[in-house]
Amino acid sequence: MSDALDFLRPDLRDFAGYNSARRTKTNGTVWLNANESPLPSLADQGQQWHRYPEPQPAQLRARMAELYGVHPEQLLVTRGSDEGIDLLVRAFCRAGRDGVLVAPPCFGMYAVAARIQNTPLLEAALRDCDGEWQLDPPALLETVVGHAARVVFLCSPANPTGQALSLEQIRSLAQALDGRALLVIDEAYIEFSAIASAACLLPEFSQLVVLRTLSKAHALAGARIGAVLAAPELIAMLGNISAPYPIAAPSAALALAALSQPVLELSRQRVVATIRERNAMASALAKLAGVRRVYGSEGNFLLVRFNDRALAYQQLLSAGVVVRDVSAMPGLADALRITIGTPGDNLAVLKALQAERVV
Ligand SMILES: Cc1ncc(COP(=O)(O)O)c(C=O)c1O
Repeated sequence: MSDALDFLRPDLRDFAGYNSARRTKTNGTVWLNANESPLPSLADQGQQWHRYPEPQPAQLRARMAELYGVHPEQLLVTRGSDEGIDLLVRAFCRAGRDGVLVAPPCFGMYAVAARIQNTPLLEAALRDCDGEWQLDPPALLETVVGHAARVVFLCSPANPTGQALSLEQIRSLAQALDGRALLVIDEAYIEFSAIASAACLLPEFSQLVVLRTLSKAHALAGARIGAVLAAPELIAMLGNISAPYPIAAPSAALALAALSQPVLELSRQRVVATIRERNAMASALAKLAGVRRVYGSEGNFLLVRFNDRALAYQQLLSAGVVVRDVSAMPGLADALRITIGTPGDNLAVLKALQAERVV
């Protein structure tokens, strides 16, 4: 098996990161080493937020690791999975040289991170085979090898297609890419899917990385908490290149509360309700005259093709319903992505799309 850090930028190999005040392990009672205010803000209700937070909040890290079935050393708490994407590209891609590979249509932040790092963006497009989005593993492998891609981002369930990869597909891709590139599986929506997390494959593949987030099923998009799951040495290196105090203390506290048993139970019930609504919405939308295709989805959204996408978007907007126009993505000129909302929100979507055509 290859080493997790085989593809790390060579100039980062001996980089130890910023030696922040919180990283230095010292005991004391009078803390004058970080130029903090000695007194809490008046707005602080006993939380002691005048102190810099732990770079990696230990309790939250342990709780997330337990939830995702890994050891704490295999998990980096990040400012949303967006930060994980950014750190991976910065750590593994030399500017102007090592490529990032994506399978469009897909989430746009992989391309943004590649652009910021000035690293080539390579593509192995998904094929729409009569309603089934199919990955082309031989083409993907050929592109990785031919263009020296260092990081491959795949999303499962995928945004915006809604389709998930099976563990078998991920295993065979990880085998094919072993020693060639990191394989990153972005599982932002996995709670809405019946498929198991690829985290169970981490012991088999040192160059496999899994991204998770509390933004979707745990309803904490505003707190910006995500996680990178990977081999401990890779996690330690990403910690070295991340900001000195990436996780805001109020966000860490909120995330920990959201992962307490009663809140977790409610989140799980809501996920079940969202799945039910998603399936009902898929059937209802498919019956509408203007709808050409509704793709099966394992996320909390539906990808829908319309006879007249611009008209559908306008009808929704006129009713005050804002959905995602994905028509600029390859192969999706006639499509919108619709998040599953409350039953009332979903009804508003259906009503708007049933409205008479405005001439
Ligand atoms: C596939 C995918 N990955 C990652 C993210 C970013 O999530 P976070 O809020 O954790 O940064 C999103 C957000 O929409 C997403 O769709």
